[in-house]
Amino acid sequence: MTTETRVVGKSLPRLDASGKVTGTAVYAADFALPGMLWGKIVRSSEPHARIARIDTERARRMPGVRAVLTAADVPDVRYGGALKDETVFARDKVRYVGQPVAAVAAVTAEAAEAAAAAVEVSYEPLPPVLDLAAALAPGAPLVHEDWRTYTAIPILHRDGNVCNRARIVTGDVERGWAEADRVFAHRFTTAMVHQGYTEPRAAVAAWDSAGQVTVWSNTQLPFEIQNTLAEILQVLPGCVRVIVPGIGGGFGGKLRVGVEHFAVLLARKAGRPVKVLTTSEEELTAAYPRQGTLIELKTGVTRDGRITAKEGRIWFDTGAFAGSGPGVASVATLVLAGPYRIPNLFLEGYAVYTNKTNCGSYRAPSGPQANFAVESQMDMIADALGLDPLEFRLRNIVREGDEGPTGQTLTAVGLEECLLRAAKAIGWENRKPGPWRGKGLACGWWTTTGGSSGVYVKINPDGTVGLNTGAVEIGTAALTGAAQILAEELGVNLADIHVVSADTFATPFDFGAQGSRTAFAVGNACRAAVAELKRKILAQAAAHLRVEPEALALRDRHVVADGTRVSLGEVARLSQLSGGGLIAHGTFIAPPTPYDAKRVEAHVYPAFHSPSFHAHAVDLSVDPETGDITIHRYVVAQDVGFAVNPTYIEGQIEGGVAQGLGQALSEEIVYAGGRVLNANLTDYKMPTTVDVPRVESILVQHPSQVGPYGAKGVGEPPNIEPPAALANAVAAASEVRVMTLPLTAEKIALALRGRERA
Ligand code: MOS
Repeated sequence: MTTETRVVGKSLPRLDASGKVTGTAVYAADFALPGMLWGKIVRSSEPHARIARIDTERARRMPGVRAVLTAADVPDVRYGGALKDETVFARDKVRYVGQPVAAVAAVTAEAAEAAAAAVEVSYEPLPPVLDLAAALAPGAPLVHEDWRTYTAIPILHRDGNVCNRARIVTGDVERGWAEADRVFAHRFTTAMVHQGYTEPRAAVAAWDSAGQVTVWSNTQLPFEIQNTLAEILQVLPGCVRVIVPGIGGGFGGKLRVGVEHFAVLLARKAGRPVKVLTTSEEELTAAYPRQGTLIELKTGVTRDGRITAKEGRIWFDTGAFAGSGPGVASVATLVLAGPYRIPNLFLEGYAVYTNKTNCGSYRAPSGPQANFAVESQMDMIADALGLDPLEFRLRNIVREGDEGPTGQTLTAVGLEECLLRAAKAIGWENRKPGPWRGKGLACGWWTTTGGSSGVYVKINPDGTVGLNTGAVEIGTAALTGAAQILAEELGVNLADIHVVSADTFATPFDFGAQGSRTAFAVGNACRAAVAELKRKILAQAAAHLRVEPEALALRDRHVVADGTRVSLGEVARLSQLSGGGLIAHGTFIAPPTPYDAKRVEAHVYPAFHSPSFHAHAVDLSVDPETGDITIHRYVVAQDVGFAVNPTYIEGQIEGGVAQGLGQALSEEIVYAGGRVLNANLTDYKMPTTVDVPRVESILVQHPSQVGPYGAKGVGEPPNIEPPAALANAVAAASEVRVMTLPLTAEKIALALRGRERA
């Protein structure tokens, strides 16, 4: 960047701050309409069973009940993303404990709950597929007998319980093994974990007399939900309006239709607005958590620490439906490659059906699992070769102009700087500063998701600016970041910008709050809008000031020329009098990232756009009696391209690490016999404020060529490295290498006892 900026790059307060801190912001879970009913979902008690009979008579006659629905009452539609295998309610058989089989609406939440409990369902149990090994065994029962008949995007590679097998093949691993002095093979597993958003999934639906339905929900993707609801209802998308009043965290768990379809169908049946809100138990048994995985990694290295080849496979336990599994399995292969120069790669990601809840996307989907394996193994290899883990990484990391695993050209590669600065911050030269104390590192790379964004920008006669966007403010302050870019470009203050967002009827299309893309894409759409708007502003002002448009510039909320100026508001007023006002439509779509298509198979996401690079460094102690971990320092160095608002990027880093610590140390949705044993927030152990250490952020800035002012996506990355960084630090502190997540104190203590006995 060459010129001084006045709004971007500054830690200004977010535009929605006051509503959040005073508690006046309305979230979807708060939203209510007069005369609203409450919906409740009846869920399967069996992991895999034929439905013999559903009797709703008793429920229908209960006081206050206004609607009861089963599969027989709704269109027989299979929907889904890459693979259409879902139905609103189970029809002939259920495939997981928690799968919806019916829904009721009643005048109070209590009446709805009582009616739901009165729906009688008889099941004939079928042999369930309880884990990856069972699903992949020869002759395993099929979760979907009719998988061949389902509609899917044609590139998927499917086979029975495998609903996609994505692959990257680069070079020739056999040659790589021949060139290697040592070959290391390891196996890792990771647990199923929930996103832990504070606001449960919620939706309110109301139909009007013209046959249009409006849904207020906390979805991350209002335009996608509009289409999905239209598909489920068998109506045109133009009949479905989706509005996001506010969203209390999503982290990928609110990408897909959650409870919106139940609200819409119940409201249509009852002729009244209906609200559906999930409980913690429903969240932990029937939401879209992160998949548990099994990972096998084989890596060849020369004696001096150069990686010659890597073969890796990761199996995702995607649960009873494909959901985001085919895509997540694809992305995983890019994470398995790691941010390393490796000439020979054979990497596969499998999405596998089991009789569990349908797993989905969670902040950097596949990132923490695959990175845990890759970065744990990097340390294990370094130890075996007698190399410092930092030095081993520096010998292999990608650098400016290198090729990515699928042939993309990497630019703005800030990885070396991230590694060096994170390591330096924790005093890497002294890796074992005391007994039971050690330091660990992990690094990685991630994408800035593409997809298009549109905005309308309007200048008001009072000089304020309307930013109208289909994007969702998911809580990151990404729309404040976009507004900072808009303010910078227009020469106004951030506080001059008013944001209207996330209404499929009233705002332009946006690909949604996913993949760390919002500030990046909406920011660029704002720049495009200003380019368009400037022509109108300058023409109007030039006529008014009697100067040439070329002599004018936007500065300090004015249009200025040598010795004269007019306020932006006055130009807007003049434009309203003469030509309908100052408004422009700006759009952006990230240019495609070229890659070598011959290297990929069944791959939904073959390249990382405007990739970010990051390193985490941790200094901790292990209690040799209990296995408990005390974190002394946690440092993140993240290449953010350009820090549009440093405070909120630090907020993302702190939040991402907090979630990452949970996945690393304590969180696991525990299944036994197809049932969740810990479906409450007492037994499902998320970290709290007392568990999370201070996180130190180092913002590294190697500007992206595409991002606004050089920005890259920043939201997901901080969630990726915590498990590996902690595992590596635990190994340095205790010589215990835990290869299954979570790294509980119990596992560490048992391993220490085992070693003492040995
Ligand atoms: Mo994200 S897991 O793309 O919300």
